[in-house]
Order: sequence, then structure tokens, then C-alpha cells
Amino acid sequence: MKKYTDISDITDLDSLIRETILLKMTPFEYHGLGKHKTLVMLFFNASLRTRLSTEKAARNLGMEVMSLNVNEAWQLEFEDGTVMDANTSEHVKEAAQVISQYADIIAVRAFPSLTNKVKDQSEYILKSFEKYATVPIVNMESATAHPLQALADAVTISEFTETKRPKVVLSWAPHPKALPQAVANSFASMMQRMDVDFQITHPEGYELDSNITKDVPIIYNQEEALAEADFVYVKNWSNFNDYGKVLNTDPNWMMTAEKLGKAKFMHCLPVRRNMVVEDAVLDGGQSIVMQQANNRTFAAQIVLKQILENLN
Ligand code: CP
Repeated sequence: MKKYTDISDITDLDSLIRETILLKMTPFEYHGLGKHKTLVMLFFNASLRTRLSTEKAARNLGMEVMSLNVNEAWQLEFEDGTVMDANTSEHVKEAAQVISQYADIIAVRAFPSLTNKVKDQSEYILKSFEKYATVPIVNMESATAHPLQALADAVTISEFTETKRPKVVLSWAPHPKALPQAVANSFASMMQRMDVDFQITHPEGYELDSNITKDVPIIYNQEEALAEADFVYVKNWSNFNDYGKVLNTDPNWMMTAEKLGKAKFMHCLPVRRNMVVEDAVLDGGQSIVMQQANNRTFAAQIVLKQILENLN
């Protein structure tokens, strides 16, 4: 692997999952690999899990880690040829090249605006770093994708799978704020690469990008979709068609223990209790959200390991 900006950077998913599970057993085995190598993590948005798990992953490999909350420095400019007479103080052209001199790998978190669909879909922040940086880029959640989360989710499903071809359902949930589609997008893409029976359930009108969902069955009746599920991945996303809008907060879509049945409950976290999912689910034995969060470290570690192995 030369970079990890999207799950399409994974060539052999089965083998990557196997290697991640092995790495989890001996997390310090490759501690020499990252010696004298530096990961710079750039945060345009806040993070708890991604920040800590990616830093831990890098340290497990012996890397040095530096983090920058970019917006606490100053606003970067991303437009080409612009007259920088307003709020932006440095162009990404210089910033990315400068940071590349301090880093062997750059990881970027940059959420969508959820107001300008065309700009968000262009992934201009992530792609600008890919274009101007001279070192590999890792996506720590961009406008449209969260590939580190999706890899951790795939590993978690592999670890907990008890049937040959488990049924996995991605179920939309209500949320008071407008959230990105990134986690749902990457999870949907990842499930299409796994040997699972994958379905999506959400209210009518909440369709994700059809270029991502392709021919995955979409079932508007949540109860019907959840029947006989082995894994239920709950996630809110704001409306993709009426872009970034919260058009539905129907509490009937919240996940309950009754609806979950015998399935394992998954969520990327953070999660709003009794809005997205009721306490009984999160506090019950079928929730595997802590195992998912734990796997964030090893998903990041296998990605960093493979990129380090491919550095010139
Ligand atoms: N799941 C996830 O990406 O969590 P953070 O936003 O806390 O990083």
C-alpha cells in the first residue's frame, strides 16, 4: 500500500484483515519499522478515537508523531490563482510541501461543509494534500469517506462472524445535527467487498450516493430489513439529495433492544444515547462498539505499516 485515502487502496482485503488480526496479537513486533520516521496528523476537525488510535498505532511502530489543529494556526487557501486578500493566510501549495519536509506520512481529517455539495464531493482538501505533498497521505475522515473506520469495522465483523455469510444491515438513525455521509459511504463500500448479505435501511429520501450503494438492497421498512440480521450498524447521515439537511428526526428509527433481536450492535462512535440508540443496547452484551473502537488502532497500524514498508 502506497497511501490510504479510500478503501480502493486496499488490493487484497481478506489478507489485510488477517494481517490486522495477527498484528493485534503482537502490536510491538514492528517497533523498529518506524524508527526515525514521523507521522504528521492534520486536524481540520475534532476527533477522539481517530486522533488517539492513529497516534497509538504510529507509536506501536516506533514512529514520532506530531499533530496540528490546522484551524488554530490559520486558514489555508485551496483555490488556484486566487487573490488572497481575505481570511486565508497560506496556500495549501506551500503548506503541504513544507509539512512534507517534516513528515514521512501525512494524515488528514477534513469534514465536509454540508452546504456546498459540489465542493464537498470534490474532496478538495484531501486531494490538495495528495497533489502538493511529497509524502503519502492517509485519510482520517474526509468529506465523503472514512476508510480507517471501515477497515476497523471489517476486522470487527470478521472477528465476530459465526455464520458463513452473515447478514449485515446499515440502519439510519435520527440525530439533531447534520452529520456527514462519510462513515456510511465507506461502510457500504467495504461491505460490498466482503462475503456478507448486506442491506441498507433508511427513511425514503435518505438515499446515499448511488455511485456508492450501487445495487445494494435498500429497504425503507426498518423492521423488515432487520429480520434475521447478524450485525446491525447504526448511523445517522444528513440528507444527500437535499444536501446537508435534517429532514427527519423520527424517534421510531432509533435502535432498541427489541428491534436488534439477536444481532450484534455496531456504531463508529461518538453516539447520542436514547436518540440514535437506547441505553439497553449500548449497555447490553450484544454491543461490540468497544471492540470496534479498539480495532481502530490496529486498522491504522496495518495501514501505516504497509505504507512504511513501501517508502522509497
Ligand atoms: N469514529 C470516529 O472517527 O471517532 P472520532 O470522530 O472520535 O475520531
